[in-house]
Amino acid sequence: VSTIPLREFILKVPREEASFTASDIVRTFPRKISRQYAHRILRQLVEEGKLIRGGSTRGAFYALPEQAEQVGLAVKLRLQNRGLQEDAVLDELRARLPPLNTLKRNVNEIFAYAFLEIMNNAIEHSESARIDVEIQMVRGQAKFVVEDYGIGVFRKVMSQRRLGSELEAIQDLLKGKTTTAPAAHSGEGIFFTSKVADVFDLDSFGRRLRVDNLIDDVFIVDAKPLKRGTKATFSMAKSSTRELRDVFQRFASEPTDPSFDTSEVKVKVYSAVSGYVSRSEARRMLSGLDKFRTVTLDFQGVQAVGQSFVDQVFRVFPRQHPDIVLRPINMDDPVAFMVERAKRSS
Ligand SMILES: Nc1ncnc2c1ncn2[C@@H]1O[C@H](COP(=O)(O)OP(=O)(O)OP(=O)(O)O)[C@@H](O)[C@H]1O
Ligand SMILES: [Mg+2]
Repeated sequence: VSTIPLREFILKVPREEASFTASDIVRTFPRKISRQYAHRILRQLVEEGKLIRGGSTRGAFYALPEQAEQVGLAVKLRLQNRGLQEDAVLDELRARLPPLNTLKRNVNEIFAYAFLEIMNNAIEHSESARIDVEIQMVRGQAKFVVEDYGIGVFRKVMSQRRLGSELEAIQDLLKGKTTTAPAAHSGEGIFFTSKVADVFDLDSFGRRLRVDNLIDDVFIVDAKPLKRGTKATFSMAKSSTRELRDVFQRFASEPTDPSFDTSEVKVKVYSAVSGYVSRSEARRMLSGLDKFRTVTLDFQGVQAVGQSFVDQVFRVFPRQHPDIVLRPINMDDPVAFMVERAKRSS
């Protein structure tokens, strides 16, 4: 009698079919096991990301992640960036991946919005001859990847807007209304896509921006291996209850006028310099924010701020821009103290 553990049997023993069911496992495993036991181990493997699950609860089937495409839970297209239209690409993907058409209304709306924005960016801004797209419908997630081999999102924004570093380009993209083609674009795509995702990543030439809305946090890290061009990865839970219009609404100050006039800055992403002390740091953070009517300044993760920094933000800037409302949130006591002090002296 074979002593192979069930987990290993499921993951390592070759089968003819790419996908299998719990009953297949019970039938072919060399020892007698219960269905419940097979189900339990399968569920664990899915949770660990070692297996993917497809189908409904009753008709569930399983496969190794690298077989997602073969079993109809993923699709990949390699496209030449010539005369491409983002909506035609999405139609093509829908035709090739039927599970994509079974998303709930609100998830479908968000997924399509985000895909069209990011695909449009690759087509119009990347200067890449090739664009690869992939959609995966596994592990309760709807996920897409759009990858180009062009000039790179952070580098493009940095050079065209004459910024000092790719980090500054990332900081500006996070504010919204950052575009290098103002005649034809408004700089909303990356901002809103990053807000409607559960998790959104932009990876380009060694820098990675991750916006994780599940924990309401933003990360900017060095990434290896170096990605030439731009790789955007979007994912959200298929069970999400988020509504696209609620997200647009959050960044509009008038409920009756849904125009994009509200931005939100995570002060934390400015920490790389000297630690929120200088006036020039404050000016960098505030640059471009005059395009908005309301700006939320989120101090989460900021332990202290210097006098010149808060003076610039809460006294000088409001004098220059009396119509803009600054809303500081998530302040630790030392920060709140300094902010209060600056506001008083204005
Ligand atoms: N794949 C890419 N390759 C190179 N640059 C990019 C890419 N995607 C975006 N960019 C740069 O980032 C900027 C911001 O993109 P975003 O989608 O937020 O705004 P936009 O495309 O300019 O305007 P909108 O999306 O409102 O039409 C672009 O103007 C472009 O300079
Ligand atoms: Mg865009």
